[in-house]
Amino acid sequence: MVSRVIPVDTFDLVIFGGTGDLARRKILPGLYRRFTGGQMPPDSRIIAAARSEMDDAAYRAQVRAALEEFVPAGKRDEGGISAFLERIHYVAIDATGTSGWADLKKMMRPDVVRAFYFSVAPSLFGALAERLHENGIAGPQSRIVVEKPFGRDLESARALNRVLALHFAEEQIYRIDHYLGKETVQNLMAVRFANILFEPLWKAQYIDHVQITVAETVGVGGRGAYYDTSGAMRDMVQNHLMQLLCLIAMEPPYHFDPNAVRDEKLKVIRALDPVPPEDIVRGQYLAGGGQESYVDHAGNPRSRTESYIALKVHIANWRWKGTPFYLRTGKRLRARASEIAITFREPPHSIFDDAEDWRENVLVIRLQPDEGINLKVMIKEPGPGGMRLTQVPLDMSFAEALGPDGEDIPDAYERLIMDVIRGNQTLFMRGDEVEAAWAWADPIIAAWERRGDRPKTYEPGTSGPEDALMLMHRDGRRWREIR
Ligand code: BG6
Repeated sequence: MVSRVIPVDTFDLVIFGGTGDLARRKILPGLYRRFTGGQMPPDSRIIAAARSEMDDAAYRAQVRAALEEFVPAGKRDEGGISAFLERIHYVAIDATGTSGWADLKKMMRPDVVRAFYFSVAPSLFGALAERLHENGIAGPQSRIVVEKPFGRDLESARALNRVLALHFAEEQIYRIDHYLGKETVQNLMAVRFANILFEPLWKAQYIDHVQITVAETVGVGGRGAYYDTSGAMRDMVQNHLMQLLCLIAMEPPYHFDPNAVRDEKLKVIRALDPVPPEDIVRGQYLAGGGQESYVDHAGNPRSRTESYIALKVHIANWRWKGTPFYLRTGKRLRARASEIAITFREPPHSIFDDAEDWRENVLVIRLQPDEGINLKVMIKEPGPGGMRLTQVPLDMSFAEALGPDGEDIPDAYERLIMDVIRGNQTLFMRGDEVEAAWAWADPIIAAWERRGDRPKTYEPGTSGPEDALMLMHRDGRRWREIR
């Protein structure tokens, strides 16, 4: 299968925070891959802006080092790197002051797409938006891209939305949740809405429960100070897991169109029930495997911030009443594994005597690693020994099914940045969605803070605190293994 690469329009992309970690790890490597993939028109330009004084040559040397570190050796070559570096410029700018803005203005070209990536602390969003406007650098056709965290509660998210809205319309604002750029996450929509097979069964009547797992092996490491003000609920659940839940639970949008999709996701968030304390388990990893404990990483021995959370969520609407969604995410777990597992109910009546061998149908959408889809079905056990049942997987690994293209699954950032240039907001969060997600998360967080709950500890390399197992056991269900 040959993938179709449709070039985007010529653009000038300004990256504020161009010397930062995200630019080095994700944005620049992603752009390099789109450039060598033939999707970035050769006269497009990337203009990095940051505080330090340096010339283009010095910045290009930094970009080269970043590509050497973050693009696998087999995916880069000297010719590609040199050509890409020529497209890159640097401007020193004071985000909150006046210096550098006239230089940036001079560099921008008329008649090409203008996009501004705010890869900086949210406290600078307002200043950047204002300077771009005052200096006549951003106009009604320009786009801005903002990174998470988009606020730390409803109030701060509203304040950010208000600040951006002073100078930009909602159609110009691209709020990134990089989970929406993951290939399999988009595939979830394709599987649901491009096949007749699943949608008729996609409701509480036929689905027993849904499990969403995002397990990581890394700890919070050097991000401890930031992370300790956030925790897994704010860092992962309010955004990434919430987006996954929305894509599974939403009604079919009338069209794959930005507002149609986002309207449906918003309805799901608004239908979420509050989560009582007994349906939440929070954890903190202990020291082990040569690494420090969470509280040491956080530099806060009394920290009550969770590096793990599991919770049972109900969606109060006709489609989902009676089908719980179990969510869990954590650091320093047994394996890096993200998946969505949809477990179907039993057939209404069994015609086979061999009932104890019956297992539920499970549809597993694996996000990472080994992206793919797997459906567990019952068949007859082969052989002449009577009618015995067994379960087998109908397995589709993307790497295998799609051949060489499947192995080359693009990184989320590649896809999302190209969508910004195309002007397609489908995979970006709308302001009201982010606010609704905080409106759901805030009272849950406030309740455990009020009670002064301490997270349970867990050993690194496990599947999290023991209590999380109980969350499902008491409902007669069990978590899938993390592997
Ligand atoms: C980020 C979180 O948004 O997502 C990190 O801030 C987390 O804490 C990361 O590690 C996980 O992303 P991925 O793509 O590696 O699953």
